[in-house]
Amino acid sequence: MSVLVEISGLSKSYAGGERRVDVLRNLDLSLGRGERLAITGESGVGKSTLLYTIGTLERPDRGTLRYEGHDVTGWNDDELSRFRNRTIGFIFQFHHLLPDFNALENVMMPALIARWDQARARRSAGELLETVGLAERLGHRPGELSGGEQQRVAIARSLILEPRLMLADEPTGNLDPATGGEIEDLLCELNETRGLALVVTTHNRQLARRMSRQLELRDGRLFPSAD
Ligand SMILES: Nc1ncnc2c1ncn2[C@@H]1O[C@H](COP(=O)(O)OP(=O)(O)OP(=O)(O)O)[C@@H](O)[C@H]1O
Ligand SMILES: [Mg+2]
Repeated sequence: MSVLVEISGLSKSYAGGERRVDVLRNLDLSLGRGERLAITGESGVGKSTLLYTIGTLERPDRGTLRYEGHDVTGWNDDELSRFRNRTIGFIFQFHHLLPDFNALENVMMPALIARWDQARARRSAGELLETVGLAERLGHRPGELSGGEQQRVAIARSLILEPRLMLADEPTGNLDPATGGEIEDLLCELNETRGLALVVTTHNRQLARRMSRQLELRDGRLFPSAD
C-alpha cells in the first residue's frame, strides 16, 4: 500500500493555566492510501488534537507532516486551506450543519465556496445524498432530520470535494448503537467503494474493530491497541 500521510516526530503542547500540557510527544505515524485506521485512548489523551493536526487544522510545535511525499508543515494558512479542501473530509461528533439550510444546500456549500457552478454542485450534492441513503430528504433542514440522518448529511458534505482522506472524530459518539452501526456501515462502504482512507477516533470498540488497524494514543504516542 503506498503511503498517503507520513508523520514524524510530531509534538504539540497547550499552555493551559499554570502548567503546560504536552499532548503529543515525538509521535510517528504512517497511513496508507485507502487504509482504515482507528485511534483509541482515554478521554483527554489527545485524540482530537492528533486528528486535527493530521488534518492541518492544528499546527504542530515540532515534527513534520507529509502528504504523498510533500512536507506541508511550512505552508501558510491559505496554502493549507486550499490543500485541505481538496484532500481531506472531516466529520465530527456534532455535525455542525447550517440550521437554516436544507440537506441539499448544506452538502452543496463547500462546492459553492470552491466556486463550482450551481448546477454542478446541485447535481453532485444530490448524488451524494442518494449514496448516503437520503434521496428522500433533500429539502429537510437539520432540525427536521434524526441524529443519524444529520450525520449522513455531514458525511455527504465532507465528500463533495472528493477528498482522499476522511478524518472522523467520534463519528458515532452521539448516536444510539443501532444508528451508530449504520453510520459505521456507511463509512466502511465509502472506504471500500471510493478508496477513501479513513481515520476515526473512537471510544466505541465495535467501530474500532472494523478498522484494519487499531492504535492507542497513550503518553503522547501511538501504540498497537491491546484489544
Ligand atoms: N485549545 C486548547 N487549549 C488548551 N488545552 C487544550 C486545548 N485543546 C485541548 N486541550 C487539552 O489537551 C488535552 C487533549 O485534548 P483532546 O481534546 O485532544 O483529547 P481527546 O483524547 O480527544 O479527549 P475526548 O476523548 O474526551 O474527546 C486535554 O487535556 C485538553 O484539556
Ligand atoms: Mg476528542
